[in-house]
Amino acid sequence: MKDTLIAPSILAADFANLQRDIEMVNSSEADWFHIDIMDGVFVPNISFGMPVLKAISKHAKKTIDVHLMIVDPDRYIKTFAQLGANVLTVHYEACTHLHRTLQAIKAEGMQAGVALNPHTPVSLLEDIIEDIDLVCIMSVNPGFGGQSFIQNTYQKVAALKELITRKGANTQIEIDGGVTNKNAKALKEAGADVLVAGSYVFGAQNPTATIAGLKELIS
Ligand code: DX5
Ligand code: ZN
Repeated sequence: MKDTLIAPSILAADFANLQRDIEMVNSSEADWFHIDIMDGVFVPNISFGMPVLKAISKHAKKTIDVHLMIVDPDRYIKTFAQLGANVLTVHYEACTHLHRTLQAIKAEGMQAGVALNPHTPVSLLEDIIEDIDLVCIMSVNPGFGGQSFIQNTYQKVAALKELITRKGANTQIEIDGGVTNKNAKALKEAGADVLVAGSYVFGAQNPTATIAGLKELIS
């Protein structure tokens, strides 16, 4: 079985020491950088935008996984490609023409992701799963770090895994929100390929050791 990947969420980093925290991720066992972009409209919070992502990209040496929590994401696909995004994830709930959006992301050379809010069923991806490189199952309501994990996520991972297998798709499953050492192993066993962890990593005394501990649980 493939190793599950760890994607520390930069939302929980110390923005006054951003370069230090990026270098920590670079030299850790983490696999990806998870970057949360919030517009204050799709979600009730504003995180950071293009200039900050540009600064992150300059130092980040691993895959940059951008999670757009914004309305009308099509407006910025080209911009995020230019800023160094490798994976670009849009919300199902924010896209009227999801198929077109996914093709536009791929045309810019990025992997195309779709995030599902906790209330959005996996079955809605039935006719589009083969076009999706990554599905991000939100295990909290998007907008804030540090929230508690929603238990129904396990059922959604299982349903998604079943859909991917049945369609013969090559889609990765990412879990975002409330990931800790308490649920990482069970999430891997349910079928998760990528675990995002924000406050559990950056809130720890020793983030590097915390990442290594998570990796050990899931390898
Ligand atoms: C929530 C964001 C998450 C968040 C995860 O809206 O999409 O990526 O940063 O943070 P934790 O791990 O603290 O729940
Ligand atoms: Zn996220």
